[in-house]
Amino acid sequence: MAKTRTSFFCQNCGYQSAKWVGKCPSCNEWNSFAEEVIVKEDSTKKIWQGNTRKSTPALLEDIDSSQVERFSSNNTELDRVLGGGLVPGSLVLIGGEPGIGKSTLMLQLSLKVKRKVLYVSGEESEQQIKLRAERITAPAKDNTWILSETDLDQIFQQAKLIEPELIIIDSIQTLTSKSLESVAGSVGQVRHCAGELLRYAKQTNVPVILVGHITKDGALAGPKVLEHMVDTVLQFEGDSRMLYRLLRTTKNRFGSTAELGIYEMTGKGLRNVDNPSEILISQRDTPVSGVSIGATIEGNRPLMIEIQSLVGAAAYGTPQRTSTGFDAKRLNMLLAVLEKRTGLKLGTQDVFVNMAGGIRVDDPAVDLAVCVAVLSSLHDISISDKVCFAAEVGLGGEVRAVNRIENRIAEAEKLGFETIYISKYNKNLDKEYNSIKVKAFGLLPQIFGDLFG
Ligand code: TYD
Ligand code: MG
Repeated sequence: MAKTRTSFFCQNCGYQSAKWVGKCPSCNEWNSFAEEVIVKEDSTKKIWQGNTRKSTPALLEDIDSSQVERFSSNNTELDRVLGGGLVPGSLVLIGGEPGIGKSTLMLQLSLKVKRKVLYVSGEESEQQIKLRAERITAPAKDNTWILSETDLDQIFQQAKLIEPELIIIDSIQTLTSKSLESVAGSVGQVRHCAGELLRYAKQTNVPVILVGHITKDGALAGPKVLEHMVDTVLQFEGDSRMLYRLLRTTKNRFGSTAELGIYEMTGKGLRNVDNPSEILISQRDTPVSGVSIGATIEGNRPLMIEIQSLVGAAAYGTPQRTSTGFDAKRLNMLLAVLEKRTGLKLGTQDVFVNMAGGIRVDDPAVDLAVCVAVLSSLHDISISDKVCFAAEVGLGGEVRAVNRIENRIAEAEKLGFETIYISKYNKNLDKEYNSIKVKAFGLLPQIFGDLFG
C-alpha cells in the first residue's frame, strides 16, 4: 500500500510547501497554509478515460480555424461577454458573490441554449432547481439534465451516459475527487477537479462552465492556477441588494476582455438589459443641481451615465473627498485642476461624487462631466438633462480629445440629447448631426462660460 503523502498548501494562491510556514513566500499572505493529503494509494490514474487524441504538430496555414465554430448561448449579454458564443472544448469560469445570481444565470442558460446540457449542482437538490426553473418560467425544454452530485467520478460516469453538449458545474468548490483526501473547496481539490474537467473539455470538445465562489476581498476563491487553467473568466458583479448585475470578462482566450453584459434581476430571473443608458440615467421631473451626464464607453458599448456630485462646506477641519464608482485619485486631480485653472474655491468643501447605478467607470471621458457636476453642485445651478459631456480634462485645464467620439455622439443622439460638449481637438469630426448640437471647446473655463453664461 502506498504511503499517504501530505503537503502544505497556501489556501490563497496554491503555493505548495513541505512544511508549515506562517507567511506564504509566494503571495505574502499570513497564516494561509493548511495540510492536505495529496496522494492516496494508487490514485494516480486519471478519472476521465476518454479516447486520447494524439497530438502532432501541424502547419499553421493548414489548421482549419472553422473548427472553432462557436454556438450561441441564446442569451445576448452572455454571448457578448464570451466574445460571440461558446467555443467548443473551452473551459469558462464564472465568479461572483453569493446571491448575485450565478446559479440563476446558469439555469437560464441551460434552459435556453439549444443543446443537450448537463447541469451539475453540488449546492442545491434537484427539487430546489426545479422550483427555481418554475420561477424563471422558461419554455419547457427536454434536453436539460440536472444532476445533484459532488463526486467528480460520478459526474464523469453520468456524462458518459448522457453525452451532453455543454456541462455546467455549480460550483467547482463543492466538487471532490476520490483521488484526493482533502476536503471539498481546498486548493488541492479545486485544482485537481478543474484539471480533470479541463482534460474532459479538451478531449471531448464539450464546453464546460465552472461556477466559482469568491473570497471576501473579491478574488476568485481557490488557487490562482484556476484562473490560468481556464480559457475565459467572467465576473458577475453588482450589489446583490440592487437590481442590476454586471457581467464582465476578465480573461478571454477567444475574445475581447473589454466586454460588459448587463442584467436586471426580476422576480422571474435575470433579464437582459438591451439599452443600459436608460437605467443609468434617473428619471426626474424637476432638474437638480450636481447632476451631469457623461458619455462613456464600456467595452464596445457606448453608455450614458449619470454623475452625481454633492459639494458642501466641510463641517470638520479636513474636507472629505469621497467617490463611488470613480477613481478617488482622479477626483482629487480634477478638483485641483478646477481650483487652479478655474478659480473655484474647493479647499474648504466636502466633495462627494457618485456614478449612478452602481457602475464603476474608468473611462477618462467622464472627466468633463465630473467637473461640470461639481461646479453645478457648488453653485447650485442645475444642468439641463438634454446636455451631455464627453472629454478628458488635462492638468492645464485643457479639454482633451477622447477615442470613439462618433459612437458617443451617436448614442447621445439616439437617446434624445440636444447638446454634447466635446473637445475641439477631436479631429475628423466632419459628420453632420441633425438632431444633436456638438459643441467643441479647448479649455474648461470656455465650457463653463458657455454652460452657465
Ligand atoms: P442565485 O442565483 O442563487 O445566486 P448565486 O448562485 O450567485 O449565489 O441568486 C439568487 C438571488 O436572486 C436570490 O437572492 C433570489 C434572487 N432571485 C430573484 O430575485 N428572482 C428570481 O427569479 C430568482 C431565481 C432569484
Ligand atoms: Mg448558487
